[in-house]
Amino acid sequence: MFSKKGTGSWPKYYEKTGKRPPRETLLFALNEFEKYNLKGKNTPLAIDLGCGNGRDTVEMLRRGWRVLAIDAEPSAIEGINARINEEKKTLLETKICRFEGVLLPKSQLINSSFALPLVSPIDFPALWKKILDALMPRGLVSCQLYGERDSWVGDPTITFFSRSDIDALLSPLQLEYFREEEEDSTTPRGIQKHWHIYHIVARRS
Ligand SMILES: C[S@@+](CC[C@H](N)C(=O)[O-])C[C@H]1O[C@@H](n2cnc3c(N)ncnc32)[C@H](O)[C@@H]1O
Repeated sequence: MFSKKGTGSWPKYYEKTGKRPPRETLLFALNEFEKYNLKGKNTPLAIDLGCGNGRDTVEMLRRGWRVLAIDAEPSAIEGINARINEEKKTLLETKICRFEGVLLPKSQLINSSFALPLVSPIDFPALWKKILDALMPRGLVSCQLYGERDSWVGDPTITFFSRSDIDALLSPLQLEYFREEEEDSTTPRGIQKHWHIYHIVARRS
C-alpha cells in the first residue's frame, strides 16, 4: 500500500519535534480543567494516543496527571522514559501498540496530537467510537484531524474530513476550541506540502 507520510522515520521526527512546546489543543484542554476545577478529588487520568516521544505527555505529567501513553513505535516510549524522573514514572503507564486494537480505560482527557489521522478510513469510525465511549462525563478530547484539501489526500492509510464531516463527527460533543489551518510549509522531515488541519478540543456533555 502506498503511503506519503513517511512513517518509516519516526525517530527522525521525534528528534526534530519532541522538545518543542506542548500542542495548543492540549494546553487549551489542560487549562479548561484548571479553570473550572474539573480534575476531581483523585489524580485524573489522561490518555495520549500516538504520544511520540512525549511532547504532550511530559506536560500532562508535569501538571500532575496520570497518563496512559500509547504509541506503536518503541523508540517513542523509550524517548519518554528517558525524559522523566522516577517520581513522574509512577504517574505514567505506557503501551507499545497500535491504537486501533487497544482497550481504552475511562479517562477525563483523551489527547491525540497529529496522530488520529494516521488511521485508515476503514478503521477510523470504530476508533472514534472507542474514544467517545472512554470519555468520562465532562471529559475532553483534544486532537488534530486532516481536511480534504491536505496534499496527502489520496493516501489510503490516512483519514481526511470535509468541514461537514467534522460537524457530524463532533455532533455528540460540545465544541470548546476549533481552529482550521491551511498553509504551505515544510514537514519536520523536510517535505514541502499543503496542510489542511482542524485543531479541536471538544467536551462530552
Ligand atoms: C506525527 S506523530 C505525533 C507525535 C506527538 N503526538 C506530537 O504531537 O508530536 C504521530 C505518532 O503517532 C504514532 N502512530 C501513528 N499511527 C499509529 C497507530 N495506528 N497506533 C499507534 N501509534 C500510531 C506514530 O508512531 C507517531 O509517534
